[in-house]
Amino acid sequence: MISKETIEQVLMRNDIESLIGSYVNLRRAGSNLKGLCPFHSEKTPSFTVYPAENSFYCFGCGVGGDAITFIRKRENLDYPDAVEFLANRAGITIVRDESPGKYAGAPKFDKAKMLKMNVDAAKFFHNQLFSDTPDAKQALSYFTNSRGLSLATIKHFGLGFAPNSFDVFSKYMLSRGYTYDELVAGFLCGRSDRGTYYDAFRNRVMFPIIDVSGNVIAFGGRVMDDSKPKYKNSSDTPVFKKSRNLFALNFARLSCEESLILCEGYMDVIALHSAGFTNAVATLGTAITAEQARMMSRYTKKVIISYDADEAGQKAAMRAIKMLGDVGLDVTILKIPGAKDPDEYIKSNGSDKFKRLLESSKSRFDYNMENILSKYDINVSADKIKASRELVKLISETYSLAERDIYIQIVSKALQLEPKSIKDDVDRAIAARQRTRKKEESQKVKQDAIGYSDRVNRDYIKAPAVAKNEEHVLGLLFYYPEYRKKVFDEALLSADDFFTDLNRRFFVFLEERYKASDDSLYGMNEVFNEEEIGRAMKMKTLRMQLSNSPEILLDSIKTLKAGVKKKNSESANTYEALNELIKDKNVRK
Ligand code: GTP
Ligand code: MN
Repeated sequence: MISKETIEQVLMRNDIESLIGSYVNLRRAGSNLKGLCPFHSEKTPSFTVYPAENSFYCFGCGVGGDAITFIRKRENLDYPDAVEFLANRAGITIVRDESPGKYAGAPKFDKAKMLKMNVDAAKFFHNQLFSDTPDAKQALSYFTNSRGLSLATIKHFGLGFAPNSFDVFSKYMLSRGYTYDELVAGFLCGRSDRGTYYDAFRNRVMFPIIDVSGNVIAFGGRVMDDSKPKYKNSSDTPVFKKSRNLFALNFARLSCEESLILCEGYMDVIALHSAGFTNAVATLGTAITAEQARMMSRYTKKVIISYDADEAGQKAAMRAIKMLGDVGLDVTILKIPGAKDPDEYIKSNGSDKFKRLLESSKSRFDYNMENILSKYDINVSADKIKASRELVKLISETYSLAERDIYIQIVSKALQLEPKSIKDDVDRAIAARQRTRKKEESQKVKQDAIGYSDRVNRDYIKAPAVAKNEEHVLGLLFYYPEYRKKVFDEALLSADDFFTDLNRRFFVFLEERYKASDDSLYGMNEVFNEEEIGRAMKMKTLRMQLSNSPEILLDSIKTLKAGVKKKNSESANTYEALNELIKDKNVRK
């Protein structure tokens, strides 16, 4: 349990403006600050920091809270670890009582120990590669002979070998003081149905995954033949999330000012680094995530996508180009002629040729246009029509007017059509898309308004009007401590006056705080999850922007009580809101 004093001190010493400012570019907007939300992709800022309130809220995705909530989410830490993170940042030492079950989400495993365990494992695998057994020799020869890696490269990446045994590795780790539970939690061992433990990586060459701070956080292991599965990668563990790490970023971050090269596989990255392209990184066996895209945008302005040449690779590249473009990166895409991937290309053509390939990497438009034109014979009119349709669609997806103009010129030349007719088609395509988007948006607003898609407050849909009133009242209570005094001292409301479970929990929480003579809302992090805290912040933030008075409070309470009473007297028709929506949809049709 972390004491209230500690939390107060941690929050006081971590000024929210400079804390969030170190992650997000913030601009002043009145007494608040605005920036692009670090938790969802957006082009116009809806992420707001309220220095006076020591809080933040994103109107786009509904994430909000205090400095601790921010760090929980941004650094992917649980509550106590987030407090510790902020304490370290402010130079405060905190004493943690590790007895389990004291707070929600207490860590079962000591992260520092788990990181040390990974280092010991990496050293074990690396040393195995140079041991004097036939298996080890075969593994080393796989790297040096079959994959052409130098000893220097093997050492640089800390590559290793997991012996062909169910227990050699774990026996060693137990002798170093780790337990089976820790090995299983770190994805280094598995546990059978019968309760026996076995080494997770066997007879595989090993790739340690290292984060930008130099911690070994996970492993990938590859077979040395054609057997399946080719790779076994660590699942997420307390110290590893594959969606927010990139292979070799620990090295690439030192040489990526100009650009990063994004590959699919570990072997591609290793081949590129040893050929001198030390700005190459790869995802960890999954498609690129928005988190990874944002991460890359913190290190560089430009990304060159260098995926496998097969169809799957090229499809993945199209997704990546969108993801990276969305966070404002300048993205180009590489086509690798005559080889299946960058690794193979460099092996057969050398690094100079690859360098030229990098220089000729194409923008999304050029790349797609080339693909479309190669599919069709534009001397056949049916083909020409198809090509023009696809190219018009492509141009219409371009945001910048100047770019669109340029593309219209290029396409009209390529297809020998009037620029004017291409432009008209593009305009029509854009208008059509806007119409669909507007329709979708108004549908979404309607659904949101009645809580149709409310995952955080699941009861919302059962009584949207009542839930809305609850939020009015709670917003006032969250924002004004003096209103809490009034409501609780005069017993104007009780938990029974709340219809939705989440809002009742908020009310009970406020009441408990009040009875403990505590005005602060710090304790929320202990009781509510991040989404719920975001919801509370939404209520509070909306009230901050309105005029308020004790009369408004009393009025809202009256409306709330009346609404709940009515609601409770109706037993049927719980889902009238949903029915309304369906009716409304039918009318619209
Ligand atoms: P080579 O085939 O040896 O050149 O390896 P590569 O690193 O280039 O791998 P590839 O292009 O086949 O796959 C890209 C990435 O996907 C790999 O680095 C792995 O992270 C992941 N991957 C590939 N195959 C598997 C698999 O069978 N299982 C899992 N979990 N991940 C895989
Ligand atoms: Mn490959």
